Amino acid sequence: MRIAITGTGGRVGMALARRLSAKHEVIPLPRGVMDLADSASISSALAGLECDAFLHPAALTSLEACEDDPRLAMRVNSAAPGKIALWAAERGVRMIHFSTDYVFDGSTSSLLDESMPARPLSAYGRSKLAGERTVLAHPGHLVLRVSWVFGIERPAFVDRIFDDALAGKPLSAIADKLSLPTSTVDIADWVEALLDADAEGILHACNPGPPVTWHGMATFVVNEMRRRGILSSTPEIAATRLEAAAEFRAPRPRFTAMDTSRLSAAIDRPLRSWQESLAEHVALRCAAR
Ligand SMILES: NC(=O)c1ccc[n+]([C@@H]2O[C@H](COP(=O)([O-])OP(=O)(O)OC[C@H]3O[C@@H](n4cnc5c(N)ncnc54)[C@H](OP(=O)(O)O)[C@@H]3O)[C@@H](O)[C@H]2O)c1
Repeated sequence: MRIAITGTGGRVGMALARRLSAKHEVIPLPRGVMDLADSASISSALAGLECDAFLHPAALTSLEACEDDPRLAMRVNSAAPGKIALWAAERGVRMIHFSTDYVFDGSTSSLLDESMPARPLSAYGRSKLAGERTVLAHPGHLVLRVSWVFGIERPAFVDRIFDDALAGKPLSAIADKLSLPTSTVDIADWVEALLDADAEGILHACNPGPPVTWHGMATFVVNEMRRRGILSSTPEIAATRLEAAAEFRAPRPRFTAMDTSRLSAAIDRPLRSWQESLAEHVALRCAAR
């Protein structure tokens, strides 16, 4: 298969390109080739492009940047995927677009399935929800909602905890906001399986398990580090509150753990738990030091 992939400098795009290039011809479309903020750049990158599938993880992912410039957020996260989705639909090319658990307002306390109403709290969430809708206006396309992505491609929250614990720095993490994390290894695995499945619409795509806070993930990381012998004792992690996070100017939802049954049925196998995937990530970080 010829597979076009945007955002190949980002966490998910890089993981997809690496994984899929083993069996497929990957056409990377980084920002230098297709600038999503610039309609002319999108048109010129699409002109003459030939592919069987179009994977679109690229996005303006900073909540604060979206809050500061909601028009740019809409251009990159909604108008751009809409233009690509139309181009793909006209050519019979399937598009797999990436979205977020931040389309939800976080007011529930049970797992969110794909039928639950989306009510984003932030400019980022609103732009991503608009992006989903413009992509799904074309039958056949697929939207994968991921959450709290981690992987070796680009450091995430769990890597900051790993590095700070190793350096003996004081640790703290928010303990009153719950979701489910998503490993880039698993995202690439699911997408590879979905290329051969006929799923369309929205799929929730995170690692299942008990909903967890950032504090819970941080605790899991240091316990794994201790178990692997790279920490001689288990450090304390101060539990902080979402309201106290001064660096967060955009509102964040409190509970966005998603139900993944539909994805599991689409690829006809169970998904790895977040504990299994995060333990693997910590093992890789330990081996690489
Ligand atoms: N990371 C998470 O925790 C998380 C959570 C929920 C949902 N998601 C969704 O998952 C998808 C993948 O996220 P990620 O973790 O891979 O994000 P990421 O690491 O921030 O990567 C985003 C990618 O988008 C590219 N990009 C941004 N603006 C662009 C523009 N104007 N033109 C072209 N490319 C542009 C970036 O290019 P440069 O490399 O040039 O900067 C980067 O490669 C996104 O749709 C995101 O909304 C992510």
